[in-house]
Amino acid sequence: MLRLRKELELFANLRPAICFESLVEASSLKPELVSGLDIMIVRELTGGIYFGEPRGIETLPNGERRGVNTQVYTTSEIHRIAHVAFDLAGKRDGRVTSSEKANVMESGLLWREEVTKVGAEYPNIKLDHMLADSCAMQLVRAPKQFDVIVTDNLFGDLLSDVAAMLTGSLGMLPSAALGVKGGGAMYEPVHGSAPDIAGQGIANPIATILSFAMALRYTYDCAAEAQLIEDAVQDVLAGGLRTADIMQPGKAKVSTSVMGDSILRAMDRLNKD
Ligand SMILES: NC(=O)c1ccc[n+]([C@@H]2O[C@H](COP(=O)([O-])OP(=O)(O)OC[C@H]3O[C@@H](n4cnc5c(N)ncnc54)[C@H](O)[C@@H]3O)[C@@H](O)[C@H]2O)c1
Repeated sequence: MLRLRKELELFANLRPAICFESLVEASSLKPELVSGLDIMIVRELTGGIYFGEPRGIETLPNGERRGVNTQVYTTSEIHRIAHVAFDLAGKRDGRVTSSEKANVMESGLLWREEVTKVGAEYPNIKLDHMLADSCAMQLVRAPKQFDVIVTDNLFGDLLSDVAAMLTGSLGMLPSAALGVKGGGAMYEPVHGSAPDIAGQGIANPIATILSFAMALRYTYDCAAEAQLIEDAVQDVLAGGLRTADIMQPGKAKVSTSVMGDSILRAMDRLNKD
């Protein structure tokens, strides 16, 4: 995956954390903290400490071993991810929170300064900065304060997983990895191949279906069709259908294919309305 992202130059990872109203009870936080939650985390995906050089494990003359990774960002890498975040915020609630560790890392200080410069080009977007540790705390204390969070590869990895759990289940979470304008993009559920439940017909297909909705919105510019899919998912959940991972008392447990077919039928119904 790292190689695919790097070679396709998929530098912007978009991970929405949306809490469907019918699933507020599935979150580990109190319903009032997550009801209506709609955050977009924009994570830089091809730079930072996962790729920086020097890296490696070496043996020192005294026999000790030393592991090294390097956090490195250039202004152009910061600018292009910042533009993605500000452009997205312009289509949402108009707020960007940039997150780093400017208090202890030079690369974080550069990140803060350069995001501020890009922010000056977007007078209608409100920018604030938050240290990554504080951002993690705020995500579980009062997540609805955020609109778009933009952050580097390492902190984005952590913060997007924290935000993901606010919404209940891995099986609900789509993601997008975008490259340069006109280049490639990759859409996939946040979860992996779930080998422990393979072949049982119980996997939740919603993250994959919502990933296709993201493709319609961000690559094909088909916002209405994307909305139709998202509304159909909402409709089916409101109707009480659940796969095993999001099962709640009093709801109907269904298989992967029944969930998928029900979403298709809801799309037909909503499309006619
Ligand atoms: N982005 C990615 O491509 C990605 C992400 C995570 C893991 N992986 C890969 O997937 C494989 C399995 O990894 P893992 O088990 O650590 O992570 P996983 O995401 O596949 O599974 C984690 C847990 O969540 C459950 N789960 C995942 N998706 C689900 C769904 N749609 N419905 C219901 N339950 C679901 C699984 O049953 C499992 O208990 C590994 O090869 C790993 O490298 C890939």
